[in-house]
Amino acid sequence: MKQPALFEAYSALQDRIPWISILENPTPVRQLTNLQKALKTKEAMWVKLDNLTSKAYGGNKVRKLEFLLADALHQDKHMIVTMGGLGTNHGLATTIHGRSQNLHTRIYIEDQPVTPNVLQNLKLMYFYGAELIYTKTKWRTALRFNLIDRLRWKNIYWLPTGGSTPVGVLGYLNAIFELRNQIQAGLLPEPRLIFVAAGSVGTISGIELGLQLTGLNSRVMGIQVTSNPRFNRDRVKTLVRKTLRLLTPTIEVGKFHYEPRFELSNEFLGRGYGYPTKAGSEALNMALEFEQLNLDPTYTAKTLAGVIDYLRKGNEGPILYWHTLNSVNLSDIASQIDFSRLPRPFHRFFKGS
Ligand SMILES: Cc1ncc(COP(=O)(O)O)c(C=O)c1O
Repeated sequence: MKQPALFEAYSALQDRIPWISILENPTPVRQLTNLQKALKTKEAMWVKLDNLTSKAYGGNKVRKLEFLLADALHQDKHMIVTMGGLGTNHGLATTIHGRSQNLHTRIYIEDQPVTPNVLQNLKLMYFYGAELIYTKTKWRTALRFNLIDRLRWKNIYWLPTGGSTPVGVLGYLNAIFELRNQIQAGLLPEPRLIFVAAGSVGTISGIELGLQLTGLNSRVMGIQVTSNPRFNRDRVKTLVRKTLRLLTPTIEVGKFHYEPRFELSNEFLGRGYGYPTKAGSEALNMALEFEQLNLDPTYTAKTLAGVIDYLRKGNEGPILYWHTLNSVNLSDIASQIDFSRLPRPFHRFFKGS
């Protein structure tokens, strides 16, 4: 079986860190030449296509799950309990890939703006066997997650929002070693700046740590898609440091000096998580028209809006836009699911849709 690029770089990790293979290949990179022309910029724009991480269900979560599901199996857990909004991509990815490892998923679900894509994900989580529990608010989710169920149940793998634990962060640390190999092979130039959506900040934390361990000069810019105050700069630094500790003693943490270099911007958030913005809609339309790339209003459109703004202001490239959205089309399956089969508290979201 092909080893992850991280284990190729540090072979001692392979006996210490549980990992299962979900990605078939390194995800492709390509230049966004048409978009560059449309924006009338000479700066090179590239994309890393993490929509293609899996044929079952792609996007950024798959990279985290290679380490998270392996960790759950290693600890002999049978069930994953996690949380997210009504249309959580993380919940759906965990349900689909967990199921292929015989791991059952339970998800605490809280409100978010309802869109057709959110309703589709909700149906799909049900279809793929997730146990869906409507908690409505973050506060009630936290209460059930941290106090009630956690004390009551054993043999559960507890997975916070977005799978952004130090173990999950290993997925994007590995992704940067994969990117470094692609740069060394001449498939793309070393980017000046990498743009990525920042939600629960696990993805950007892995990229930040990876850039430092590989010695690449690129920096990462996280475009914030939520106003949740927990997902801030300090959270990135903490996740980087805790992930580094997982690598000890292979990498001697004492000798490695972590100097934060990432940036986080909330300039493209708009009204909040899940609410579309004007700049995001423009980015979404341009990506589709010029590059046949499908974006979503919640994460990727706001991120590409950040890229467009950066280049329009005359800043230098090359830039790499990291595309984190699943592109496996499951709409046919979703359209055959009758919402009345879902638990009753969810029915009202479908009425009138
Ligand atoms: C499509 C997409 N992009 C980016 C992110 C952000 O990743 P993270 O939560 O690790 O910051 C998410 C998280 O749900 C996502 O679904």
